[in-house]
Amino acid sequence: MAESVIQVEDLAASFGGRTIFEHVSFEVRRGEIFVILGGSGSGKSTLLKHMIGLYRASAGKVVILGQEVGAVEGSARRALLRRIGVMWQSGALFGSLDLMENVMVPLEEHSDLPEEARREVARVKLGLVGLGDAARRLPAEISGGMAKRAGIARAMALDPPILFLDEPSAGLDPITSAGLDRLIKQLAREMGTTFVVVTHELQSILAIGDRCLMLDKTAKGVIATGDPRKLREESTHPTVRAFFRREAMEE
Ligand SMILES: Nc1ncnc2c1ncn2[C@@H]1O[C@H](COP(=O)(O)OP(=O)(O)OP(=O)(O)O)[C@@H](O)[C@H]1O
Ligand SMILES: [Mg+2]
Repeated sequence: MAESVIQVEDLAASFGGRTIFEHVSFEVRRGEIFVILGGSGSGKSTLLKHMIGLYRASAGKVVILGQEVGAVEGSARRALLRRIGVMWQSGALFGSLDLMENVMVPLEEHSDLPEEARREVARVKLGLVGLGDAARRLPAEISGGMAKRAGIARAMALDPPILFLDEPSAGLDPITSAGLDRLIKQLAREMGTTFVVVTHELQSILAIGDRCLMLDKTAKGVIATGDPRKLREESTHPTVRAFFRREAMEE
């Protein structure tokens, strides 16, 4: 079994005294596609933000590549951040920069590569997500699906061993979404990149998820973990069953 690269131990998140989730523990192994799922407002994005140290945990801890995320500071923190790529739910491209310049931003911040090499890396990454021809376009001049893919290209700029993607395929047409799934799977299998992906697209979860974790608002925590295909067949939890079988919950 591949080594564990992320450990989340007894993590709790709260805002202004309101607990979003607690007692969340799991690990992510090298090269796997780990899916975080759950209803809207269950805390998926919040969990992601705690995992990368954007929010401070109200209890517990997150360790990435041997470093406790909430405890590292200064150059050690920068070194850790260099090794993770993040694509936000909103895409968050810089509107005044074209796609190539967007992908170059992390390279400018975190590498000593000369300008021409940064351009070359950006060109390669955009090509990887099928945007080779759109490098000089501004975010306002591309479709939503293209913006998502550009966000992934930017997250991959530094070849991070771990990529966090928050709803990469939400709002995409099924064909673009399937293409994105294929790209994620290819990167995981061929490059050994580890993925933590937030999504509630059932098809996508079953297609790419090696293991998943399901958060629930009412339970304020984890209600299922494991192989999504097994959960679909075997879970007896009403919310988990309802999700995987697309059934409405009984009142
Ligand atoms: N910065 C914040 N301050 C206060 N409350 C927050 C903050 N961020 C998230 N929350 C609350 O935490 C809960 C979980 O939000 P979160 O965005 O993590 O949900 P989600 O599972 O990602 O939902 P969605 O599927 O809609 O993206 C919500 O009730 C939200 O209002
Ligand atoms: Mg979210």
